Amino acid sequence: MSIHIGAKKDEIADTVLLPGDPLRAKWIAETYFDSPKLYNEVRGMLGYTGYYKGKRISVQGTGMGVPSSLIYFHELINDYNVKNLIRVGTAGSYQRDVKLRDTVIAMSASTTSGINNTRFINKDYSPTASFDLFQKAILYANKNDINIKAGNVLSSDQFYEDDPDAYKLWAKYGVLAVEMEAAGLYTIAAKYNVNALAILSISDSLVTGEVTSSSDRESSFKDMIEIALNIV
Ligand code: HPA
Repeated sequence: MSIHIGAKKDEIADTVLLPGDPLRAKWIAETYFDSPKLYNEVRGMLGYTGYYKGKRISVQGTGMGVPSSLIYFHELINDYNVKNLIRVGTAGSYQRDVKLRDTVIAMSASTTSGINNTRFINKDYSPTASFDLFQKAILYANKNDINIKAGNVLSSDQFYEDDPDAYKLWAKYGVLAVEMEAAGLYTIAAKYNVNALAILSISDSLVTGEVTSSSDRESSFKDMIEIALNIV
């Protein structure tokens, strides 16, 4: 048991999918896993272990944002020896050609979070995906005709920004989309020498103001989760 995860040491697989929403963790386990077993309910942050094509795999909700999700990333790595951490979540598009329901693979994650400012003081660290998982994700998507985009994303600490145009600076420098956790994931994975990747499904657009319906979200989710399940 760790402070926030009530599982025994061997109840979590080496590979964990990481949605922000705990009910999405439940949906993933019930939809894709054989013999899913609930291992955590602490704070309602559901976690399950099961099998996919014979491979043991887990899914753990993380909550939203770097501070919440880092607690789960930290405990999974340090208390449960997890080696592959794959975030699956939604993101808001910053670019006109990144459309609703597109799948974006985060090569790197810029951030407005203070985590690396306080760590590296006046120097910039570049949180980066694990090349091995990244390469497998691209190969899998290409082979299976899943349309993806890959590049830099922004992990924001605020969903509701003061300035509605704040995204434009990031957009100008090629950032594809905004979410709230990848920079924390890539940094902690690097620190402990484990593998991490964030695969994102575009749920809304800061450029056009469009938002997906919940049924749309489910179908675009399938591409993202199929990629995540097939790269380890
Ligand atoms: N902002 C931040 N995080 C998000 C968004 C967004 O617009 N959409 C999905 N996750």
